[in-house]
Amino acid sequence: MSEIKVQFGDVNEKNYELLRTLNSVTFPVQYTLSFYNKVLTYNKYSRLAFYNDILVGAMTCRQEEKDGQQSLYILTIGVLDAYRKHKIGSQLMDELLKLVKQDPEIKFIYLHMQVNNEVGLQFYKRFGFEIAETIDNYYTDISPKACYILKKML
Ligand SMILES: CC(C)(COP(=O)(O)OP(=O)(O)OC[C@H]1O[C@@H](n2cnc3c(N)ncnc32)[C@H](O)[C@@H]1OP(=O)(O)O)[C@@H](O)C(=O)NCCC(=O)NCCS
Repeated sequence: MSEIKVQFGDVNEKNYELLRTLNSVTFPVQYTLSFYNKVLTYNKYSRLAFYNDILVGAMTCRQEEKDGQQSLYILTIGVLDAYRKHKIGSQLMDELLKLVKQDPEIKFIYLHMQVNNEVGLQFYKRFGFEIAETIDNYYTDISPKACYILKKML
């Protein structure tokens, strides 16, 4: 399908309610208010994707130390259902890969994802992520409870 070119915006106090609405219709997990308060502090690697001033996608990511190395953890990447398969997720990921290149200290990117998320798995594999681990009882409120840890070395 044809690419829909998006414009990026930062997550801030004025627009994080929009991000909340987008995530609430995009993910099976309902994130808490404290999650969004924290996201406001993760704005270096979090972005909103707008098409004609409409929020159509978003990613939230934070830098963290893991296994003694600096890493980037993806909390969410989501695109509104009606706008999927138009390379909006890819533009968000390309932007993330561009941002992360600016910090050579960051050695890998990783995330948790429900094991039944086949579209998500295809998406991440396309960008060179691999299944590093499976955790059986990761989620408490959704089924299946198992998750993959997907990882991409930089
Ligand atoms: C995963 C998601 C972000 C992809 O966004 P998108 O804008 O539709 O993705 P793109 O159009 O950029 O697709 C890039 C690649 O992902 C894969 N992909 C995307 N949608 C797919 C589908 N329905 N079936 C199979 N592969 C798919 C393909 O490899 C695709 O490359 P191609 O277009 O050359 O075939 C979107 O489906 C989504 O928001 N899903 C719900 C939230 C979620 O599960 N996020 C991932 C966990 S954080």
